[in-house]
Amino acid sequence: MFDLIIKRAYLADAKGEVDVACQSGKIVEISKSILGESRETIEAEGCLLSPPFIDPHFHMDATLSLGTPRLNVSGTLLEGISLWGELKPLQSIDDIIARAMKYCDLAVAKGIGAIRSHVDTCDDELKGVQALVEVREKVKDYLDLQLVAFPQDGVLRDSTALINTKRALDMGVDVVGGIPHFERTMSEGASSIKLLCEIAAERGLMVDMHCDESDDPMSRHIETLAFETKRLGLEGRVSGSHLTSMHSMDNYYVSKLIPLMVESKINVIPNPLINIMLQGRHDTYPKRRGQTRVRELRDAGLTVGFGSDCVMDPWYSLGKADMLDVAFMALHVGQLSSREDMEWCFDAVTKNSAKIIALEEYGIEKGKPANFVLLQAKDKIEAIRLRAHRLLVVRNGRIISRSNPIEHTLYKPEGKTVFNELS
Ligand code: FE2
Repeated sequence: MFDLIIKRAYLADAKGEVDVACQSGKIVEISKSILGESRETIEAEGCLLSPPFIDPHFHMDATLSLGTPRLNVSGTLLEGISLWGELKPLQSIDDIIARAMKYCDLAVAKGIGAIRSHVDTCDDELKGVQALVEVREKVKDYLDLQLVAFPQDGVLRDSTALINTKRALDMGVDVVGGIPHFERTMSEGASSIKLLCEIAAERGLMVDMHCDESDDPMSRHIETLAFETKRLGLEGRVSGSHLTSMHSMDNYYVSKLIPLMVESKINVIPNPLINIMLQGRHDTYPKRRGQTRVRELRDAGLTVGFGSDCVMDPWYSLGKADMLDVAFMALHVGQLSSREDMEWCFDAVTKNSAKIIALEEYGIEKGKPANFVLLQAKDKIEAIRLRAHRLLVVRNGRIISRSNPIEHTLYKPEGKTVFNELS
């Protein structure tokens, strides 16, 4: 007796419909037709069964705080950072936990299976760290939460950030973060990268830095990040988040930079929703898009995964934990409009991001944990086009979220028509 069978599902990278059977938390069979009995059977009717969405870049200590204590008027990164500085002393550990738990519920219902969240390590009480370490434990049965020690105010610029970042790592935060473009000078930015990468190397940790999140073509910290990655033997374990300055860099310089990034196996995490909103704020017209060179970086062989970054916080007023919104925006901003490119955008919010955060046993394959989401769409492109409704979310073989298909009822003179939005 199986625990769960999904009948007639379409898998993202396979041809034709299949049945998927789960038992004791694992996928035990995938074939054209599974006849055994099951405690529960779901008819997928040819809809897309995908591994969970993965968000490789988020800020869970700030999420759902919009308007507290005020709104970001200029819409810039720097006003967002000041506003976050005003909010930090006002919030308690319980406030952060309550908002984070609410966000995790939303994320799970939207089919997200894992989130890498940066957590600010610049307050002496480490309230965000205490809160999110607790949240990571609370949600572990239904969501993987990976934490990045993020010295938001600059590990060198802020007098206690270094000691507090090390304390956060001692408390069990998983990954070393940084923000070199927010340090006082370019050379201080470079020093911060060297320092933080050395800490990661000593502790055997991954690195994920906010890097060059500006339109300044001379913001070239990614070069130092790639160099330090190679020097310290951290290849494949380091991610550059944002990298928006690459949009504005000279092509010759980039032709030298990308090969260095390839040698260092730097992972790339653009955050298209937030950066199409934040970048170009100092331009009149033409106004730069500010997304990093996604196509070039991908074509060079680097792993690219899109992150959501912010939902209703000092930097971004919108968002709903929807990684298909993220893919939709990335596709448009990057002009990734061929069939292959659009399908790749789906991969960038699923398997690419799973690889970046080193998530083990990911994917819909026999023997792997039964983790997947059933989308009301026929394929990956339609999933992005519709930002498809999540019909079912399964974690370790157990249904953890489900909802009815979306359909519309039209009342026309000739009678009632019921339809859905699938092609
Ligand atoms: Fe961020």
